[in-house]
Amino acid sequence: MKRINVYLRPLLLAITALGSANTHAAGAQAMPYHFEPDPDNLASVQRGARNFMNYCAGCHSMQHLRYNRLAADLGIPEDLLQKHLMFTTDKPGDPILSAMPATSAQWFGAKPPDLSVETRMRGPAWVYNYLMTFYVDPSRPLGTNNLMLPGASMPHVLGALQGWQIKEDHPASDGAEGHGTHAAPRFVLASAGKLSPQEYEKFVADTVNFMVYAAEPGRAGRIATGVKVMLFLLVFTVLAWLLKREYWKDVH
Ligand code: HEC
Repeated sequence: MKRINVYLRPLLLAITALGSANTHAAGAQAMPYHFEPDPDNLASVQRGARNFMNYCAGCHSMQHLRYNRLAADLGIPEDLLQKHLMFTTDKPGDPILSAMPATSAQWFGAKPPDLSVETRMRGPAWVYNYLMTFYVDPSRPLGTNNLMLPGASMPHVLGALQGWQIKEDHPASDGAEGHGTHAAPRFVLASAGKLSPQEYEKFVADTVNFMVYAAEPGRAGRIATGVKVMLFLLVFTVLAWLLKREYWKDVH
């Protein structure tokens, strides 16, 4: 019985986890914005790295990513890296830790989580929608709330760029929605930010592309290796076939 337990327990746990993941998904908020990540767009990922270091790394770490790995992958020369992307006290071989002292986590009521694998946990589209849907909510301590993470204790750190928007829960629909469906709310800018809505969307897309790269820094290299391995196998198959033909010539 004990033996069986060893095998059954992980299986049961997996099934329960799957079940709860499903219920979670069913209760989850519909995402108002569509997003396809593009981590192969090097320029976008580079801009995203700059955005992340300027606007996010003050609170969030990326402890699985080292600065010099980042620089090598994104083709950033080390002097530019040190000048623009790193905190002055860090060394190129250091992981990207947040500048925020651990004690100040209390300020926000929740500790800013490490974002190394955030896009793998939540999905890139979720993170994109999260950064798009901070809205003004006077009932919240920081004056803002978030559609994807209701009651989020993260301030809208990109408010100066995006501007401040109001959530309209029941956007006038053209009658297409049936009963019981929750139309995604609409967001209306109450005060403009430094960026136009298109520029802000690009800013967020770059940032999320960087986060997708960061969640799997070896991706590009792995794909390149995969292609080489496939080519090798192809060439090897032809050689093996030729060799076989050569051997069997005498047998027939
Ligand atoms: C002032 C500190 C601060 C800054 C700057 C900041 N965050 Fe946050 N962030 C937080 C806190 C605190 C939370 C936890 C929110 C909660 O759970 O209520 C959080 C949560 C998040 C989450 C949700 C994590 C999850 O899965 O629950 C994401 C994604 C995120 N931040 C991304 C970013 C990005 C991207 C930036 C830069 C544009 C950024 N944050 C800048 C404090 C910050």
